[in-house]
Amino acid sequence: MGACRIQYVLLLSLLGFCPCSDTLNCQDGSLMKFGQNFSKTSIEWIVDRTIALESNKGKMCQETFLLIDVGEKSLILGTKGITTVPGKIKKTDVFSPGPGIVSASYVHFCDTELCNNARSTSVLLNNMKLSEYNEPGTTKCPVCLDFKGSCGRKSNHTLCPKDTKCYATSLGVNGGGLSVSFGIFGCLNSSYTYLLNNRNTIGAIRIKETLESHVTLSSHVLVPSILLTWMFGLLALCLQRSVLC
Ligand SMILES: *[C@@H]1O[C@H](CO)[C@@H](O)[C@H](O)[C@H]1NC(C)=O
Ligand SMILES: *[C@@H]1O[C@H](CO)[C@@H](O)[C@H](O)[C@H]1NC(C)=O
Ligand SMILES: *[C@@H]1O[C@H](CO)[C@@H](O)[C@H](O)[C@H]1NC(C)=O
Repeated sequence: MGACRIQYVLLLSLLGFCPCSDTLNCQDGSLMKFGQNFSKTSIEWIVDRTIALESNKGKMCQETFLLIDVGEKSLILGTKGITTVPGKIKKTDVFSPGPGIVSASYVHFCDTELCNNARSTSVLLNNMKLSEYNEPGTTKCPVCLDFKGSCGRKSNHTLCPKDTKCYATSLGVNGGGLSVSFGIFGCLNSSYTYLLNNRNTIGAIRIKETLESHVTLSSHVLVPSILLTWMFGLLALCLQRSVLC
């Protein structure tokens, strides 16, 4: 009986299944999806592909979600696979809970068989508390969420909530099977400079947030005052004329 078991183990090892090795399988894939209301409604993400870690020394399974919602449009990025970053974690970060743009991430690093097994963004949404502040403001800002270069003058403008300002950035995303840049315009809490807290990594994703100049931003805010100046100038001219006449 004992000998039989040893032979069985030997056979399995010969076949490449060594029950004593520390092989670890992780789900593997990446996701990029534009849509609406991703900060309110979860979306499903089922991954069938797996990747095996030969020796899991210093390696773990990872899953990372990054959510950005500018109001009229939202974006979810996801990646699953292997990480070499040490330390098990399971964490939701809400960088901006609104009002205006919402940004948040979910990062899970774990070391058991197929443990990076979230099937939807509910792992993020369930731990995310959004702002309920909703005072209307007076500043109008362009709103856009698209690939870099696609947000331009044609962007829609929205009346931002009170205590928010116009924000525009290009966000470069690399790693975890993703390599892409986005343009993000919208309203952001006036006391924030960055949408993602000036971070350079989120889980397995490297990010680079490059703020865009305010020139294009303030142009629309300035329009009424320019118009006003122009109207006053015209009025002055008319008055002058009527005095002259
Ligand atoms: C998103 O939410 C808004 C307001 O709740 C709703 O009008 C709109 O239809 C929703 N969009 C989708 C695609 O569900
Ligand atoms: C601008 O707003 C209109 C109406 O709300 C919408 O149909 C359109 O898709 C928006 N454009 C962009 C670029 O989001
Ligand atoms: C903006 O952020 C600050 C600091 O986190 C917070 O105290 C404030 O309430 C936020 N403003 C709004 C309008 O949510």
